[in-house]
Amino acid sequence: MPEIVDLGAYGADFTANPYKYYAKLRAQGPVHRVRLPNGPDVWLVVGHEAVRGALTDPRLSKNWRASGQLGDGEESALFTNMLDADPPHHTRLRKLVAKEFTTRRVEALRPRVQQITDELLDAMLAAPDGRADLVEALAFPLPMTVICELIGVPAMDREAFRGWSNELVAPTGEEAAYAASVAMSDYLVGLIEARRKDPGEGLLSDLIRTSDEDGDQLSREELVGTAFLLLVAGHETTVSLLSNGVRALLQHPAQLAALRADFSLLDNAVEEMLRYDGPVETATWRFNAEPIEIGGTSIPAGETILVALASASRDPDRYSAADDFDITRDARGHAAFGHGIHFCLGAPLARLEARVALRSLLERCPDLALDVDPEALTWRTGMLIRGTEQLPVRW
Ligand code: HEM
Repeated sequence: MPEIVDLGAYGADFTANPYKYYAKLRAQGPVHRVRLPNGPDVWLVVGHEAVRGALTDPRLSKNWRASGQLGDGEESALFTNMLDADPPHHTRLRKLVAKEFTTRRVEALRPRVQQITDELLDAMLAAPDGRADLVEALAFPLPMTVICELIGVPAMDREAFRGWSNELVAPTGEEAAYAASVAMSDYLVGLIEARRKDPGEGLLSDLIRTSDEDGDQLSREELVGTAFLLLVAGHETTVSLLSNGVRALLQHPAQLAALRADFSLLDNAVEEMLRYDGPVETATWRFNAEPIEIGGTSIPAGETILVALASASRDPDRYSAADDFDITRDARGHAAFGHGIHFCLGAPLARLEARVALRSLLERCPDLALDVDPEALTWRTGMLIRGTEQLPVRW
């Protein structure tokens, strides 16, 4: 067994600036045995090539039920979804969901995404002191409103939903996370029952009705798991795309000026934001049922493998001047949406929201600036979602 690298020893600095630690690890090799801060020992994949290899390796499983290593609450129906499944179950679930969650459906949301953005910016710009927390004013409510409207979660339930969701992706403790999973599951079971009785509009009603050419349908548990996955993946991540992206722009005035001068750079700028400081630091946990070798490192059977997407996107073997934020570079091949069969199903929606929101924000706030010392920002906990809890700005 290789020596363990204790990530906890890096302290809070690892959360605020993991890139320098990933760079050190990459320089020593693409795969390491690490001790997570407050967590177990796992294997961490950090090199771009090894990351892509791991994410397409069929021996790395996401079917935790088969691993015999489930913790409290993880048997819950919440986790009966495509992201916690291997083929053929994964293929079946993804196909049924993709049939309803189409690119056309996403594109049809554009006017509504613009309208929600405009309303949020109207409210934000009404602040008499010309200051706001951009997370609270725009980065959080935009994706949350879009995904709740798309699925059909009533407005009055969204605040409670936000609390459970936050707890589940960045837990404050085991008991709190378990309580959140129970509350979330009960809520979704009730919502699905209500939609069965009274379908109305919304993706959830379509997912209840949908069937493939063989008449296959999502089971009750699969509906709970799928609604959970779409709702959580649909907003927790996009919040950080907007906040990390705006922070990168405001800390790189020449890049900001270039974008303001030519908005045809916007789509490319969003890809660079995803590469440079993407919202998902490490992919969800995988395990290997048999002994394997990744990037020249042998890993015994039954281990947990963590794939560092953030590190892959900064690998100098893949990108020149990888630590520079450059909205004109070719950022293709970044790992921000994952890779392989679990590649993000919501990428078109995330890109749409980011493009609409960033353009409107920059157009309406010509003097937008950070209103905080970046060193004073506080970060979301854990290694899944990367982003600051607030982003104070002035205009
Ligand atoms: C910037 C925003 C987003 C980022 C960075 C992101 C990132 C990711 C990543 C890295 C994965 C793969 C995880 C893994 O392999 O362990 C993933 C999967 C997924 N994402 Fe996203 N996501 C974003 C937005 C969204 C949105 C808006 C939705 C839905 C409305 C969504 C739905 C999904 C689903 C359903 C999966 C599972 C796909 C599968 O297992 O086949 N995501 N996402």
